[in-house]
Amino acid sequence: MSTPLIVLVGPMGVGKSTVGRLLAERLGVGYRDTDDDIVAEQGRSIADIFVDEGEPAFRAIEQRAVARALAEHDGVLALGGGAVLAPRTRALLSGLPVVFLDVDVAEAIRRVGRDTGRPLLAGDPHREWRTLTEARRPLYTEVARAVVDTSGLTPEGVVRAVVVAL
Ligand code: S3P
Repeated sequence: MSTPLIVLVGPMGVGKSTVGRLLAERLGVGYRDTDDDIVAEQGRSIADIFVDEGEPAFRAIEQRAVARALAEHDGVLALGGGAVLAPRTRALLSGLPVVFLDVDVAEAIRRVGRDTGRPLLAGDPHREWRTLTEARRPLYTEVARAVVDTSGLTPEGVVRAVVVAL
């Protein structure tokens, strides 16, 4: 059993993976991403899991993956944008060094670009992102020890802000 050094939460397109990798490199620790864990464990893409089984089944798979990663990983851990929806995950995050990476809608959409791997942005990405993020912002805030607004910052700038914030 171990505890992550830093857990990154926040909406799709905020740059959790990019920043998480860079941060782990800077700190000389490992990087882990629960989306990657799910894809490896399931042997299929997240988009396929949504199509095959629907969102509730994906959330159950995600909750287990998060619990496992939190118990096993001692470096930087990035969670999928919807992981905080699970009350059990929010309880597990309590007391941990969780950083909420925030961003404005325009920049998030620029960062996710035309990526088709995110089923929840398949319709009108701008509107879907805004609706999801508005609903989830209180949950990110609830679990976070620190909030970093990444808008206008380079990944290196975000890494510095995270280190200062904790
Ligand atoms: C989701 C975010 C995605 C991924 C899935 C659902 C969400 O992760 O877990 O597509 O509900 O916000 P990223 O935040 O890493 O894109």
